[in-house]
Amino acid sequence: MSRPQHFGWFLARGFGPQGWGYPALDWDYDWTRPEIYRDAARTLEQAGFDLVIIEDAPSLGSPSTIDLRVRHAFGGPKHDPLLLAPYLFQATTHLGVVPTVNPAAYLPYTAARQFATLQHLSGHRLGLNVVTDTGSARHFSAAPQLGHDEAYDRAEEWLAGIRDLWRSWDDGALLADRATDVFADGTRLRAVEHRGEYFSFDGPLNAVPFSGGDPAIVSPGGSGRGLGFAGANSDVQLALAPLNEKSVRDYRAKVHAAAIAEGRRPEDIKILFAIQPVITASSEEADRIVAASAHPDDAALVQIARKQSSDLETDLTSLDLDKPLDLSIFGAHVSRGSIQRLIGDRGDGAPLRAHLTALARAGRITDRSGFVGTAEEFADLIEELGDWGNDGVLLWGDFHPVTLHRTLDELVPVLRRRGILRREYAEGGLQANLRQF
Ligand SMILES: Cc1cc2nc3c(=O)[nH]c(=O)nc-3n(C[C@H](O)[C@H](O)[C@H](O)COP(=O)(O)O)c2cc1C
Repeated sequence: MSRPQHFGWFLARGFGPQGWGYPALDWDYDWTRPEIYRDAARTLEQAGFDLVIIEDAPSLGSPSTIDLRVRHAFGGPKHDPLLLAPYLFQATTHLGVVPTVNPAAYLPYTAARQFATLQHLSGHRLGLNVVTDTGSARHFSAAPQLGHDEAYDRAEEWLAGIRDLWRSWDDGALLADRATDVFADGTRLRAVEHRGEYFSFDGPLNAVPFSGGDPAIVSPGGSGRGLGFAGANSDVQLALAPLNEKSVRDYRAKVHAAAIAEGRRPEDIKILFAIQPVITASSEEADRIVAASAHPDDAALVQIARKQSSDLETDLTSLDLDKPLDLSIFGAHVSRGSIQRLIGDRGDGAPLRAHLTALARAGRITDRSGFVGTAEEFADLIEELGDWGNDGVLLWGDFHPVTLHRTLDELVPVLRRRGILRREYAEGGLQANLRQF
């Protein structure tokens, strides 16, 4: 038997048009209604997943590039994942639900009250994917946009303020004592009186405390400052890194060092590596998919260009595929890291077709060049990750039933047989499940 690991699902295009742009997924589901999400949450719970994380960006991006972001629905629209969470809680019993939240968008008092309410309503199954994207700042304030590290400073102050509000009811303040007819002892509520760099507010919170731990804090930031945030605050860190032994061990060591530096224990943070597998019925099918991916047709390249145009906020779809890509088309607002991911080591003299073809290229799980393979082959990879001390895996995709079933139908029984995927949940909600092993 292998060691058990935690499984999460990352709803990668958020609470938005599921499956848009992929004709095979055109099943006329109404993405604005709760049904498709409830069905997916039930499937993930049946499969033994600990949590689902709902991606989000509150903004459609910079004013001049909004059309690029919405035209094929890669960058929006997105509805608010915090408000979807109650529907998913109601559809399930054990699954943790983790909406993405940006501290720019919620005042600490509002956030503390809403999160406390959801923690009670859900039976302690709320998590919060705390992100610090600053591009959406203009929707919330006319103040100058914060820098990258400052946004993390604000996030830390925000979270500390929220936790302070959650603890503004001292132990014993809530009595609900029918004999004396006293519901609560108001003298045991603390005023909080937070005066900080970014926020200024008073307590106490108008919500009762919860037992069994705070909502789980999830963080996806991979920068040095991001890992520092995780070390100090997170219960779960989402990792995007090559899945070889050195890279996995190095990433884990960095997060653990960050936790120890903050007086926490390495085991206080579960690290989930993000993977988007393509599970096939046979290894021959996997070989065929990988071979075909080396020769994408123009329609496949256009689809990749659309996604890149949204992510890079630069129109690649109107460019000649066979002319060298001129990097001066990318304005100063485009992340250098994202441009680098597009051009790789091909340099700026290569035609756009070469860059897009490289992105289309799939690889086999068996030689570790990619994630196309059978359920058994994928389970071998997960088992190997476990041998390197890995805590868990974040599978990545939309919430279309076809995507979920293609990924999970054969994989779940294989992972269960090998003892990698849980069959039963702990009592006590998301934190209890995360701490079970
Ligand atoms: C698995 C994963 C999920 C992410 N989810 C989001 C998200 O939902 N919204 C967002 O704005 N950024 C998301 N990010 C991007 C950034 O990590 C995030 O904006 C962060 O707060 C800043 O990251 P940095 O420390 O890497 O600069 C995600 C990254 C990864 C690897």
